[in-house]
Amino acid sequence: MKLKNILQLLCVAAWLPATVIAGDVAKGKELSATCAACHGADGNSTIPANPKLAGQYESYLVQALSDYRSGARKNAIMAGFAAALSDKDIKDLAAYFASQESELTIAK
Ligand code: HEC
Repeated sequence: MKLKNILQLLCVAAWLPATVIAGDVAKGKELSATCAACHGADGNSTIPANPKLAGQYESYLVQALSDYRSGARKNAIMAGFAAALSDKDIKDLAAYFASQESELTIAK
């Protein structure tokens, strides 16, 4: 394979995750009120036990929430919250948190 083709493939691969999932950011913001107490209003949690969601990949957030809901990822707290979410809720929430600017620091 020529280098040019490899580069083209890499470009397509980098572009895919952002376009495949297209949640509604405004709807996600509404839904995120439930999550704010633990993850922060914009997803920048200030509590070390609760991960920061802001700026994480949308596809990763969809996967995490789907896994909590199915039980593939086990956490008693998140299982409860994810159980109440529809597929669309998950996409919208992921779109909202992914669109927020991450305060990339280690939680203290
Ligand atoms: C009572 C506190 C609490 C609430 C409310 C809460 N979470 Fe969580 N969340 C946690 C904790 C604790 C974890 C870490 C669980 C683990 O170790 O897997 C977590 C993990 C996550 C993760 C995985 C993050 C990662 O980096 O892997 C996502 C995504 C998430 N929560 C989304 C949400 C959403 C969306 C809501 C609202 C619908 C919500 N959470 C509400 C406490 C909470």
